[in-house]
Amino acid sequence: MLIDNHNRVINYLRLSVTDNCNMRCQYCMPEDGVIFSTSKELLSWEEMFLLATAFIELGIKKIRITGGEPFVRKGLMDFLHRLATVDGLEDISITTNATLIGEHIDALKKLNILNINVSMDSLDKARFNAITRRDYFDVVLKNVHQLLQNGFNVKINCVVMGGQNTDDIIPFINFANDYNVDVRFLEEMPFNGHSKGFDGLEWDYVKIMGLIQSQFPGIRRMQSAPSSTSENYTIENRKGSFGIIPSFSRTFCGTCNRVRVSAKGELQTCLYTNESVSFKKLLSENPDTALIKPFIYAAIQSRFKNGFEAEEKTAFKKSMSLIGG
Ligand code: GTP
Ligand code: 5AD
Ligand code: SF4
Repeated sequence: MLIDNHNRVINYLRLSVTDNCNMRCQYCMPEDGVIFSTSKELLSWEEMFLLATAFIELGIKKIRITGGEPFVRKGLMDFLHRLATVDGLEDISITTNATLIGEHIDALKKLNILNINVSMDSLDKARFNAITRRDYFDVVLKNVHQLLQNGFNVKINCVVMGGQNTDDIIPFINFANDYNVDVRFLEEMPFNGHSKGFDGLEWDYVKIMGLIQSQFPGIRRMQSAPSSTSENYTIENRKGSFGIIPSFSRTFCGTCNRVRVSAKGELQTCLYTNESVSFKKLLSENPDTALIKPFIYAAIQSRFKNGFEAEEKTAFKKSMSLIGG
């Protein structure tokens, strides 16, 4: 079991496979994009597999594949086929913008990779396209429906932004009632790669909840896993459920169970720090999990207590696509 210096069990790895993306969401990166990694800088699939295996040997049970947009990188499905065979790994999940997933649905099902979180910030085509600066609304909605029809556990991530998509909060709750989908409202974080300013958070979890409560009385809090980032709720006489992720308020750090590896192989032990340990060179010099594990273990022993401490000591405003979500 992997335990950090604050006595938290670390069993969840967020593994970014690329920092590139076919969208340009305003809360993530500027219109012109960011400086994406060259293919030489990225971990090769082989290196990524080795690193993932080392994490699993140390006690990681769940790997969430992130990006950028994971499906823009060629070879992802082959990598997932391989990862799915590793003993000890209980769950492979994916966070995606769902533009490219359609053709992979059957293969994902066969691999039992059924937990898919879809970034979708509006149910209104014009607003969706304005936020993402691309014209993919129809294909995303079609793929969400296809995933649901095929029995996937779909969560929709909606980053709530004042003046942009707060009119989507109620329609999203109705969408969750009509379909078997979890909608989660995310507090916006300042990781937009200077796409726009960020002067504190207007729509925090209290304000989001206030709006929902004003429209839907009879909201009940559901039990969530202790390490969950999301507070989940049901509404009386309604089918669906919804969640709120206080990603900026960071109320869940005390039970944090996760670390991240960027597409370049940088291990980042808190979302809010810019400190990382680079594994690219280590992996090429030590292509063996036994040699890699001590470096991972050491990094886990110097984690920040929470995202506030990390931010205070090492503040930065990187793009979310470079961090890996
Ligand atoms: P589940 O496995 O379904 O619980 O997914 P998840 O919420 O861990 O992952 P997802 O990729 O769907 O992320 C949803 C939101 O939670 C995003 O805005 C993430 O950046 C945010 N989030 C995920 N992990 C962390 C974290 O460690 N700290 C903070 N502050 N936010 C996080
Ligand atoms: N603030 C909050 N959430 C963000 N995401 C990307 N950038 C931000 C941000 N600045 C979300 C995406 C994706 C998840 C991994 O993180 O919508 O669903
Ligand atoms: Fe963990 Fe840092 Fe996220 Fe808090 S902000 S949950 S400590 S990664």
